[in-house]
Amino acid sequence: MSEESEGELEARLPEGESFEPPESFVEQANVTDESIYEEFEENWPDCWERAADLLDWEASYDQVLEDGDAPFYEWFADGTLNASYNCLDRHVEDGRGDEAAIEWVGEPTDETRTYTYQELLDEVQEFAAALRALGVEEDDVVTLYMPMIPELPVAMLACARIGAPHSVVFAGFSADALATRMNSADSEYLVTCDGYYRRGDPLNHKDKADDGLGSVDHGVETVVVDRLGDELEHDLGDRQRGYDELVGEHAGATVDPVTRDAEDMLFLMYTSGTTGKPKGVKHTTGGYLSYVAWTSHAVLDVKPEDTYWCSADIGWITGHSYIVYGPLALGTSTVMYEGTPDYPEKDRLWEIVDDYDVTQLYTAPTAIRAFMKWGEDYPARHDLSSLRLLGTVGEPINPRAWKWYYKHIGDESCPVVDTWWQTETGGMMITTLPGVGDMKPGSAGPPLPGVSANVVDTNGDDVEPGKAGYLTVDKPWPGMLRTLYHNDDRFIDEYWEEYSDEAAGEWVYFPEDGAKIDDDGYITVLGRVDDVINVSGHRLGTMELESAIVGVEGVAEAAVVGGDHDIKGEAVYAYAITEDGYEGDDDLRERVVEGVEDAIGPIARPEAVIFSPELPKTRSGKIMRRLLEDIANGDELGNTSTLRNPEVVDDIAGKVSDD
Ligand code: PRX
Repeated sequence: MSEESEGELEARLPEGESFEPPESFVEQANVTDESIYEEFEENWPDCWERAADLLDWEASYDQVLEDGDAPFYEWFADGTLNASYNCLDRHVEDGRGDEAAIEWVGEPTDETRTYTYQELLDEVQEFAAALRALGVEEDDVVTLYMPMIPELPVAMLACARIGAPHSVVFAGFSADALATRMNSADSEYLVTCDGYYRRGDPLNHKDKADDGLGSVDHGVETVVVDRLGDELEHDLGDRQRGYDELVGEHAGATVDPVTRDAEDMLFLMYTSGTTGKPKGVKHTTGGYLSYVAWTSHAVLDVKPEDTYWCSADIGWITGHSYIVYGPLALGTSTVMYEGTPDYPEKDRLWEIVDDYDVTQLYTAPTAIRAFMKWGEDYPARHDLSSLRLLGTVGEPINPRAWKWYYKHIGDESCPVVDTWWQTETGGMMITTLPGVGDMKPGSAGPPLPGVSANVVDTNGDDVEPGKAGYLTVDKPWPGMLRTLYHNDDRFIDEYWEEYSDEAAGEWVYFPEDGAKIDDDGYITVLGRVDDVINVSGHRLGTMELESAIVGVEGVAEAAVVGGDHDIKGEAVYAYAITEDGYEGDDDLRERVVEGVEDAIGPIARPEAVIFSPELPKTRSGKIMRRLLEDIANGDELGNTSTLRNPEVVDDIAGKVSDD
């Protein structure tokens, strides 16, 4: 057990802030040859056949990339395949039916389930048959509002099998958020559950689902998984069926995988953007699946014999791509954990790594910061020597947290891949290849082979190394979103308008992140430059938050900004002006917090609600958010002379420091 302090650790690690991939890793890595960068560049876009080759196609495609209608690109068009066949049947046909597909670990320490590939295939077929019997047809959107229980990936793959796109809504989202997404997608089917465990207590989920259904503007058939049994009784209402009973009715069913075109929608995933309405990101069958299989192979180094663990929630894109589709397409064993890292004790993750001999761990910087705070004794209690690779995703990781992870979890013998990507990109875009490139803590790394990313100024010209600019991507990639559901105009506006030269046919994707690049082409992502806050790696739109707050009786106006937070990265700071006749007191503060939880969910809970008679505004009436951020962070305040009402600033700052 190491007793080393943080300071000593930093001192021990090389000064140059660059780490070579450990030799033991390189010896066995899936990708080790540096020439892959050149090869992909010279051979672009055909290089992406290498990703498509990881899948089994029913009919092969004619063309890798069709760009005639850019930026509505098509990948592997005319090729046909089925995602569930690729994630299940083909592994069973290869004689691997008895190997573990999903290792599910419940929050209660005595509850685990292993699904072999054969068992998973059987249940997926039974549930696919059940969905069909309920009326689900090809291209119907099925909403899955479920926590981390095995029936979630079963339902995803059952949808994929019958060509019905799924739309997973994170279980922590509120009833309102569920209804908004079901209405937006015209989704007439819902799969949900009675509840799940959180830190030892059963948590009712179905009440929230029922509340949401109350605000859906069309009829819905609902399936309810009984996760909690006697711990939480629940009733089934009209047009609601129990999962077990339904699956029982279709015991032993076989359902042939439906032939899907490469460009057919595999799923929708809603994410936050600049405006108040969440965006329905559309991902396709061929390009997306090829891309997540390829990046799982090249970056996460996944091999069939591994026990790989991504600790994200399947309700977010990370779980879709790197718990379900990527790992299962490659036929590995993927771990799924229901609970939180601190239950029953703060070593739960390390206990799971130890028990299952986990080979790769992919988690978020917010979790690593919490582990650091809890201290190195927790991981030191367990044998973590099975680990071969570590990964992070979701937000920038500071070098201190990176080094802590590298040393205390990876024992300095696992490469750390800091992977930059987004819901929209489908899979990883910027990261080192762990068997090839040196790692620089705090910097994600170069763009992956075949990915063309740059850091530019507002004119779109490359910025000098070391200077901050905007991240752009000037070539398409197979995992990219194809559009925003039923909203092609918004797709262009949000992602392509800023830097493209439409007349010249040059399309440049703008992810709305700031970044800098160094002399070696390594990119450090600095965070969002739009009105999105990244709380614990989760994207929250300030407009969505503000509209929730002004929906509270007694609030006239609101502005929300992200303030620095030790563990969460950013936290929600809400500034609100009260309506005449209302006091900015604890009662109203409580109602603001509830308003946010009802509209979005507990993840969006404000860290502080500050009432003020006015918000700082420019002469043209724009709220000075930067100033509100400085106030939230306790930073020195910048120039206030351009304000129409500079006098409010000291007043607000005083209130924040009083809190
Ligand atoms: O700001 C970037 C940040 O997370 C945003 C994407 O959020 P979301 O669509 O929810 O997907 C998260 C999981 C892929 C990005 O625009 N982000 C993601 N990964 C990193 C990151 N920022 C810095 N470094 C990363 N590795």
